[in-house]
Amino acid sequence: MQNMNTLMIPEEGVDKALLLEQMRARREEDINWHGHRAFSLVFHQNDAHAEFLKEAHGLFFEGNGLNPLAFKSLKQFEHEVVRMTAALLHGNERTVGAMTSGGTESILLAVKTYRDHARAHRPWIRNPEMVVPASAHVAFDKAGSYFDVRMVHAPLDGDLRVNVDSMRRLITPNTIALVGSAPCYPFGVVDDIEALSDLARAKGIGLHVDACVGGFLLPWIERLGYPLPPFDFRVPGVTSISADLHKYGYAAKGASVILYRGMDYLRHQFFVQVDWPGGVYASPSIPGTRPGGAIAAAWAALMAMGENGYLQSAATTMETAARFISGINDIPGLRVLGTPPASVFAFTTTEARLDCYAVADLLALRGWHVDRQQRPPAIHLMINPGHQQVVDQYLEDLRQAVDQVRRHPEIAQSGSAPAYGLLAGVPARRLVAKNVLRMMESMYGPQGQTPNLSGPVPWPARLLLRLGGLFRER
Ligand SMILES: Cc1ncc(COP(=O)(O)O)c(C=O)c1O
Repeated sequence: MQNMNTLMIPEEGVDKALLLEQMRARREEDINWHGHRAFSLVFHQNDAHAEFLKEAHGLFFEGNGLNPLAFKSLKQFEHEVVRMTAALLHGNERTVGAMTSGGTESILLAVKTYRDHARAHRPWIRNPEMVVPASAHVAFDKAGSYFDVRMVHAPLDGDLRVNVDSMRRLITPNTIALVGSAPCYPFGVVDDIEALSDLARAKGIGLHVDACVGGFLLPWIERLGYPLPPFDFRVPGVTSISADLHKYGYAAKGASVILYRGMDYLRHQFFVQVDWPGGVYASPSIPGTRPGGAIAAAWAALMAMGENGYLQSAATTMETAARFISGINDIPGLRVLGTPPASVFAFTTTEARLDCYAVADLLALRGWHVDRQQRPPAIHLMINPGHQQVVDQYLEDLRQAVDQVRRHPEIAQSGSAPAYGLLAGVPARRLVAKNVLRMMESMYGPQGQTPNLSGPVPWPARLLLRLGGLFRER
């Protein structure tokens, strides 16, 4: 194997057919999303839709949305995507927004926008804060650390929605905005957006709704007749919404929308520099170069799916999610957390001898890509239409995994279960953070090491145990 430290661009270009072959071979190591064995990272409508998206993407593969005057086509696509999204989420003619590269960028921009809006309208705030549910996406913490806005986490109620009274108590004169999720990633529940709206209006501050997952899902399930309280611009205190096209919008990756109730907010998102020797520069979002393919494919996805396509897809997704949820709840020792209204949820174990991470390990051994959570230990799923083909298999494998762990609780002492248990159980979170950072350094260091979580001594356990096993709780 070539020493990665000295890996160089080949002097002569390699045969393209050979390269494609090598690239296909490397894909073999990736998760088996195409066999519907993964429940995150890939949102797949169907193969024909994906082929169409690739073609649409390819048409604008070299286009650059950085300069809307140079690429009028891309500007028009973006405008139409924003207008269609605003209409779907009950905006009006004053609703404005922009396309971004994904949910995280939309959230980063919302936080920056609220910060700069507050700087303009409430300049006495020196240390801005936002109050966010404990279940809010971690991108808010990332934004807080990037833009120096303190994220204050409000606890959840028993139903896993944010506790609105706590949120009220956490508001201070430094609070610039509130956040609610529709739905949140960890549990798939939708916060009480109407109550948060009342609170935000009473305090005269903004309310961002993170509908990265739900923006292109909840409107359809509502139209299908599922009960769902309003979460979008119908709620008067909602001042911005993030909605990801590359999730349930079934667009190509690199596409989300950030919307604001009016230009009074959006203008604080923009960046303008007129003194640069390179010329007058203005940009609506974080990147400079904006890949044309993602913008064009997002437009193509909305147009090709159409309302009826999305409704049909949402119906299949909901029926499939219901089969998963009732099947999981029917397995003794398992329970779906909260009452998720859509197709995103997590489940946990309800017996001390049933280690959730051991169940996860056994599912992984059966070829499933498992997303493990903490607080509480849980397994997370986001359902796509294709999962209808694997419900029975998944439930059968899950039932067997649970039986096996019940009969052999010592399974929790091997595989990656002790590492996850350890990580979740360590009270000294800074210690965990320090070790995760070390892992990042080795992944992005010159050797580019990929950690192996399922080896005999998994990396986090090794790192933590090396520190004396102080926190071995299990
Ligand atoms: C609720 C929520 N918000 C934001 C994000 C971040 O989106 P992205 O991964 O596209 O940056 C996610 C991702 O799953 C999410 O579930």
